[in-house]
Amino acid sequence: MNIHNYEKIWLVLAMVMIIGFISTVVYGATAVGIEMISDEPDTIDSTALDEDDRFSEPRVEKVGDNEYEAYVIAQQFIFRPDPITVPANSTVTFYVTSPDVIHGFEVVGTNANTMVIPGEVSQLTVEFNEPGEYGILCNEYCGGGHHTMEGKLIVQPEDEFEQGGNDE
Ligand code: CUA
Repeated sequence: MNIHNYEKIWLVLAMVMIIGFISTVVYGATAVGIEMISDEPDTIDSTALDEDDRFSEPRVEKVGDNEYEAYVIAQQFIFRPDPITVPANSTVTFYVTSPDVIHGFEVVGTNANTMVIPGEVSQLTVEFNEPGEYGILCNEYCGGGHHTMEGKLIVQPEDEFEQGGNDE
């Protein structure tokens, strides 16, 4: 059988493209710190957040030098606390969960973006260097008020930051 040279070139190119596509998917799913939802049992009882140490009072807590943890609840159709206030030059780990349906937690203009699933606690760590304000958006359709579900993240100058600023 005689295969024309152009045919061979296209065959090789098609193979290279297929390998390329598979590689990007594998890379995206494994290599950059992305974790898929596990099949483990729920890590938190979404019906009893008010009895959970972390989420009974959504808040920002100082856990080290320039290190903070934010416990955030996304629910129909608000985020708590709102606003979330953190100081500049800090590293903040967000723990986000939902008592009702799937929501999104996206800090607009940053790469901080996670799905929020009842029974799971989403975790993401973000560094904030400069003072500023960011919008927080829900980017998963969660019901009739989805389009109104937004919050605010305020990065305060270090010397203005007070821990009490996040009380509901
Ligand atoms: Cu919450 Cu959409």
